[in-house]
Amino acid sequence: RSLSTSSSVATAAEVKRLGVVGAGQMGLGIALVAARNARVRVTLVDTSQASLDKGMKFADKLLEKDVSKKRISQIDADTTRSVLSPTTKMEDLSNADFVIEAVPEIPSLKTAIFSQLAKIAPPHAILATNTSSISITKIASATTPPDNPTDLAVASRVVSTHFMNPVPVQTGVEIISGLQTSPETLETAVEFCKRMGKIPSQSTDSPGFLANRILMPYINEAVICLETGVGRKEDIDSIMKNGTNVPMGPLQLADFIGIDTCLAIMKVLQEETGDGKYRPAVLLRKMVDAGWVGKKCGKGFYDY
Ligand code: CAA
Repeated sequence: RSLSTSSSVATAAEVKRLGVVGAGQMGLGIALVAARNARVRVTLVDTSQASLDKGMKFADKLLEKDVSKKRISQIDADTTRSVLSPTTKMEDLSNADFVIEAVPEIPSLKTAIFSQLAKIAPPHAILATNTSSISITKIASATTPPDNPTDLAVASRVVSTHFMNPVPVQTGVEIISGLQTSPETLETAVEFCKRMGKIPSQSTDSPGFLANRILMPYINEAVICLETGVGRKEDIDSIMKNGTNVPMGPLQLADFIGIDTCLAIMKVLQEETGDGKYRPAVLLRKMVDAGWVGKKCGKGFYDY
């Protein structure tokens, strides 16, 4: 059977309305940067009104700081704020030209959202995920009819736009295509990220993609150096921070990302490649067992 793909997808220039699903740190950052830099209308969806309120408060704070640092005018800040529409209804994405999902890394949650988006979003819309470790091919397959996996009308429009945290600060974004992603979808994703002021890198769908395939083994090796007594935590962080000019050493970065997230990504690398070089450090597992998952809980390799 030949593959049937969507006939026409929105070009980056045609994107006027962006939908963002998930108003956590990543989703809020993506929504804010798109509204401010790409000047699109943004519908921000979350099931929790409290998360939406918290997110919008944070957006106000960041915009105020942009104005006080004279990076944007008060008018631009007001315009940005006015194009951000928080909502608890997924149906409000029925007029989106591009949707970015940024919910927690739970595979069943992501696939459920994509099968919903397949029904709600218009046939020209790009459907992007911000996943840091789940296969794009697997997420896209949630949009193909179970009895006809060659019907790629929706799946060909699924792609990953993996933003880096904090989104308003980091310019890098990786764009990952799954087996089903069409070249037109990939091009719109790349060009739309450029409209947002980001610098896209492209990769294929492989465990950890590029950023985490390289970053997580680096962090894991730092944890092994700590657990085997090669160096003290301060020395491990200091040599990498001051020796390679990164803003944070690897242990401090693990605390910032979340030690639970680092462990989860190492497990994906290990399980999906079967390669022992990705074995998570024993101390990484123990930190998660203790509940010391980093900055977000007040304790990780450092206290906060
Ligand atoms: N949202 C928005 N802005 C933020 C922010 C947030 N959550 N956290 C910090 N910032 C802003 C601050 O407001 C400040 O902005 P101004 O210049 O306008 O004042 C700026 O970042 C610098 O912040 P600070 O002065 O407080 O602190 P800092 O200089 O130490 O920078 C940092 C903090 C930006 C986090 C910096 O340490 C950094 O870049 N660290 C490395 C982060 C990194 O590697 N991120 C990638 C993680 S991997 C990933 O995301 C992929 C994955 O799948 C796990």
